Amino acid sequence: MIATITLNPAVDKTLNASRVVMGTVNRMDSACNMPGGKGINVAKVLRQYDVEVKTLGFIGGYSGDFIEEAMEKIGAVPKFTRVSEDTRTSVNLITEDGYITEFLEPGPNISDAELKEFFASYEKEIEDCDIVVISGSAPRGVDPSAYVRMIEIANAGGKKVLLDTSGDNLKKGMYSRPYMMKPNLKELESIMGRRIQGLSEVAESAMQIVEWGVPHVLVSMGNKGILYARDDNGESKVIYVPAPSIRAVNSVGSGDCAVAAFALSILEGLDPEKTLKKCVAISAANACSLENGLISKEKAEELESMLTLSEPD
Ligand SMILES: Nc1ncnc2c1ncn2[C@@H]1O[C@H](COP(=O)(O)OP(=O)(O)OP(=O)(O)O)[C@@H](O)[C@H]1O
Ligand SMILES: [Mg+2]
Repeated sequence: MIATITLNPAVDKTLNASRVVMGTVNRMDSACNMPGGKGINVAKVLRQYDVEVKTLGFIGGYSGDFIEEAMEKIGAVPKFTRVSEDTRTSVNLITEDGYITEFLEPGPNISDAELKEFFASYEKEIEDCDIVVISGSAPRGVDPSAYVRMIEIANAGGKKVLLDTSGDNLKKGMYSRPYMMKPNLKELESIMGRRIQGLSEVAESAMQIVEWGVPHVLVSMGNKGILYARDDNGESKVIYVPAPSIRAVNSVGSGDCAVAAFALSILEGLDPEKTLKKCVAISAANACSLENGLISKEKAEELESMLTLSEPD
């Protein structure tokens, strides 16, 4: 069983309209609601590979009900903590002029009592899980110490923590030594506090993080692929797989797919090279489909068979 944690999930609402005029009534041509949030995407991918997964985090109101039901529909086990304020809705308005306009709600404010309730549930729910995936940002009222605490509890229970977040949550979480971290280039630069250019600098930084005590570091670089640094009996080793050339339609959530692929690789006991190829293939397959976290397994397999290791230099 795998647990995915999404502290601040969202209902992603996509609206299509020919045009929109501010200050008037605008009728939409279509509307579609999807469950959103990084850990939710990870759960979606894992369910496509028939892995048992439970989803934790905070939900509230009708939008929270929607997320809970969506998780049930895909066969995940929702174990969210109910809060008094509503789960946020993120609106993507697509108009015929080609503009995409986003409206992002602030999301709920979590009280101390609700946070306490979450941790009680977290401790109990991860007991039967081998892997805990902690993804995305936190709602108001939850500071980076929550990430530190989640990692420490899971580590103490012998779980493998996969961490994919940003900013202070990532920096502070890193020092609690998750089993794996997947920064993208921007997140890596924020950890290192400087610009990082070229594969050799990415490799150096990733190895530095391994030396700080995170045994597996995957740096995702969009259409450049993924660099993987790991601890091999006290020595840092690096491998790199360039991304396949694809017709990308939507690469949002591809990083989440790389994290899901890493979890799958742990379950399958894959070696580092096969693990990395799986991560690159499944994340690229996500970029080939419009919906975040929805991939064609056939496409992923086809892409995986085309991949080769490359020198990081
Ligand atoms: N255009 C693309 N072509 C091929 N592969 C891609 C493309 N975009 C993304 N990928 C694959 O997906 C991986 C993750 O993408 P990216 O580095 O953009 O993650 P991210 O910024 O964490 O994304 P998100 O947080 O939205 O999930 C890449 O390392 C690559 O393997
Ligand atoms: Mg990401």
